[in-house]
Amino acid sequence: MKASLFDFDFEDAKARHKALKTKIRKHDMLYYAEDKPEISDADYDRLRLDLEEIESRYPKLITKDSPTQNVGIAPSKGFKKVKHAVPMLSLSNVFSEEEANDFLKRVRRFLGLSENEPIEIIAEPKIDGLSCSLRYENRKLVLAATRGDGAEGEDITKNVKTIKDVPQSLPDDAPEALEVRGEIYMSRADFAALNKRLEDEGRKIFANPRNAAAGSVRQLDPSVTAERSLKMFAYSLASVPEGLADNHYSVLHWLKCSGFKVSAGVKAVTRLDELMCNYHDIIESRPNLDYEIDGIVYKVNDLALQKRLGFVSRSPRWATAHKFPAEQAITRINEINIQVGRTGALTPVARLEPITVGGVVVSNATLHNEDEIARKDIRIGDMIVVQRAGDVIPQVVRVLTEKRTGNEEKFKPLEICPECGAHAIREEGEAVRRCTGGLTCPKQVVERLRHFVSRLAFDIDGLGDKIIQSFWDDGLIQNPADIFTLEQRNKESLTPIREREGWGGLSEKKLFESINDHRTIPLNRFIYALGIRHIGEATAKRLAVTYGSIDALQDAMITAGDNDSNAYSDLLSIEDIGPAAASSLVVFFAESHNLEVLSRLKDYLIIEPYEQPDNVDSVVGGKTVVFTGTLTKMTRPEAKAKAESLGAKVSSSISKKTDYVVAGEKAGSKLKKAQDLGVKILSEDGWLDIISQ
Ligand code: IVH
Repeated sequence: MKASLFDFDFEDAKARHKALKTKIRKHDMLYYAEDKPEISDADYDRLRLDLEEIESRYPKLITKDSPTQNVGIAPSKGFKKVKHAVPMLSLSNVFSEEEANDFLKRVRRFLGLSENEPIEIIAEPKIDGLSCSLRYENRKLVLAATRGDGAEGEDITKNVKTIKDVPQSLPDDAPEALEVRGEIYMSRADFAALNKRLEDEGRKIFANPRNAAAGSVRQLDPSVTAERSLKMFAYSLASVPEGLADNHYSVLHWLKCSGFKVSAGVKAVTRLDELMCNYHDIIESRPNLDYEIDGIVYKVNDLALQKRLGFVSRSPRWATAHKFPAEQAITRINEINIQVGRTGALTPVARLEPITVGGVVVSNATLHNEDEIARKDIRIGDMIVVQRAGDVIPQVVRVLTEKRTGNEEKFKPLEICPECGAHAIREEGEAVRRCTGGLTCPKQVVERLRHFVSRLAFDIDGLGDKIIQSFWDDGLIQNPADIFTLEQRNKESLTPIREREGWGGLSEKKLFESINDHRTIPLNRFIYALGIRHIGEATAKRLAVTYGSIDALQDAMITAGDNDSNAYSDLLSIEDIGPAAASSLVVFFAESHNLEVLSRLKDYLIIEPYEQPDNVDSVVGGKTVVFTGTLTKMTRPEAKAKAESLGAKVSSSISKKTDYVVAGEKAGSKLKKAQDLGVKILSEDGWLDIISQ
């Protein structure tokens, strides 16, 4: 327990609560919607625990939109939405023996049992996949759904029907209506084979088995899911019909006898020492399993006790997950190479003597930057402890200096870019060294192209890393706009793609299909795809909400080139946009090459406005507001930030689509235009009244 959280006064706690909410939401998006997590499960869980701690201290901060009040995020487009008859909740976590003991104590205290009273717990491996709910009616599988936000998920029935572990029908003596819950996963072997195939086909590979399972189950074409060899372990029933079982172990037994797969390693335990002994046994056997597990789930066995224990916030009081620490191993650094990224950042990467860390072969680890190398005194030839936590890139934890032989070599930062020979400089206050080659550095250009087609951007599956590189090498694609003229140019080419090594008519056709499927793109994804430094997915969304169209964004960024302009202060008033992000946007839109490519892209694509989910709790959620004139009770940036935090879109120009014009003192032509168009006009006080409702 971190006492430091309680050192905060209310204002600090409020600020920290807000920051944590934003962070958790971002990681929820990455995890649930994009299958592309950036932090380990353990780090994510810590964020949630911190949030819960603040809320338990200051319950006033518990708002409906707090991540503690719901699980994950709402389902994405493409699949039909389904309401779960019984919500699909999440589990609280424990990370240590002490916390596991706290869980047991809490259960006993709640049930009014004495301190030493044994309580039967079922310990099950926590499978690292994605949860699924299977509804059976008249013993036939009628619906399979993802968890989604816990209340509503996606209908993935067609896809799940292709999974062999999922029975299509139940034995005659099974109850008439039943909902089975379990985890869909991909075995390590199938994951390796899938990635190999994707790589051979020049397509994008998955970072880990969980992402591969989630990506495969959410394919719009079930025949693709069918090819992906997914598996499933069942772990519970949404509600247990009368007479079927009176404890969880019997439920698992029943599931197994009824044709479901139940994971190995399920144990009944009672005392803390048994829990811990089982925990260590499972950790030891973990590398030998053919699937990934990220902890152990403890569940009170007796269903009557489970019922009494019930739920707290969105997790059962009768269960918790004992998470594993990051996995570590010892190996040697053979080399330190420099990788050049799309923004020119030079990242040192340790090439390791390949080593298996928790069932995955690791041969590279990021060293972040030269300060990090100096801080940890990492040298070429060193024996080091490498760590892999969840989905995060492996890291060097520390050097085993006692193993040094004296032949280790210090790393010397490069002063020229290894890819293009331009100067690599480290600006004051920056941790990273950057190549100054810009668009003349081939590596930066190729990385930008890769980013442009990546999953959160255009998501063009047919253009994997190798294909991008080879098309670039041969001059077929030199900038993002070229992707969309490739088909036409190919028709006229004397050396068409189908004649390249490894290609044929079918793969050529598929490539163009995958490009053409992405000629329409939401504005937020488009902005993200541009790969502007400091503009990640969340910031791109904010820009899309604020400016509404690519033309409006472009105009505003050109005007914002003048730091005294309103456009510049408007830009800085957007959440998450500080001077660095603002300057990189301005620089991007000042570069004529970028504007040329943009103008071509606008010709080839349909860029859709970003649809912001309605902020149901707020009267102004989803409404478009224009502020004009001089505001006296708040600054313009403040007004804007407040409106946006309530889900409104703030625009600088008035149209028929404008819902409110807030007219301050000396409002001029905009006020007149609003009157002409019949848009609702509010005084500053009128606006404050509305938003305080
Ligand atoms: S029981 C009320 N048992 O872990 C939730 N969950 O963090 C009861 N999971 O969404 C879940 N293996 O996807 C349970 N043996 C297991 C599990 C398991 C993996 C996942 C599940 C759930 C998540 C909770």
